[in-house]
Amino acid sequence: MSDGEWDKLIEEILNCRKCELYKYRRNPVPGEGRRDADIMFVGEAPGSREDETGKPFVGAAGKLLTELIEGILGLKREEVYITNIVKCRPPNNRDPKEEEIKRCSPYLVRQIKLIKPKIIVALGRHSAKFLFEEAGLKWRNMSIMHGKIIETILYGINVKLMATYHPAAALYYPKLRPKLEKDFNMLKKTLLSLDRSREKRKTLFDYL
Ligand code: URA
Repeated sequence: MSDGEWDKLIEEILNCRKCELYKYRRNPVPGEGRRDADIMFVGEAPGSREDETGKPFVGAAGKLLTELIEGILGLKREEVYITNIVKCRPPNNRDPKEEEIKRCSPYLVRQIKLIKPKIIVALGRHSAKFLFEEAGLKWRNMSIMHGKIIETILYGINVKLMATYHPAAALYYPKLRPKLEKDFNMLKKTLLSLDRSREKRKTLFDYL
């Protein structure tokens, strides 16, 4: 992890004018959390509260995401890294446009390469489609693809990639909430198996 590279990246995001979203934003939202996190969450784009504060997932959807991270994964929000595929708020919370994703996603790619997470969770179809296609995987749709842990290589990094519903979608359609919770339970299992294989490696190392 290089602080210099991180500083440069954050500075670039804060001053970015690569697409027209800079005209409407109050604050760009680069992301927050541990820069050596095992698990990284990638949402869609900042909403109103995020635009106001410069922090990701701090509105209603963020409250649900934080509850899932803390309640199901047993982690603190500060222990993971949370970001979005698009770093500035689209006006009236419209979907990000293809062109905006194309111009903004290189920042996400740099974040992934710096963090080298073991697990990436795509929240919602925009980040899911982008990340699956970057890994050379075919994206179909969320109802088919959610909750599957896919071991793949992304930018030379071995990662487990999982797509799930965006927390805002689960707030809007309450029937999605149990599915989201089930996916987080899958994630919890994956995290535990990560801990176990680390423990095994440590024991092996102690013997050598
Ligand atoms: N929705 C997102 O996708 N990202 C945020 O940061 C907030 C809401």
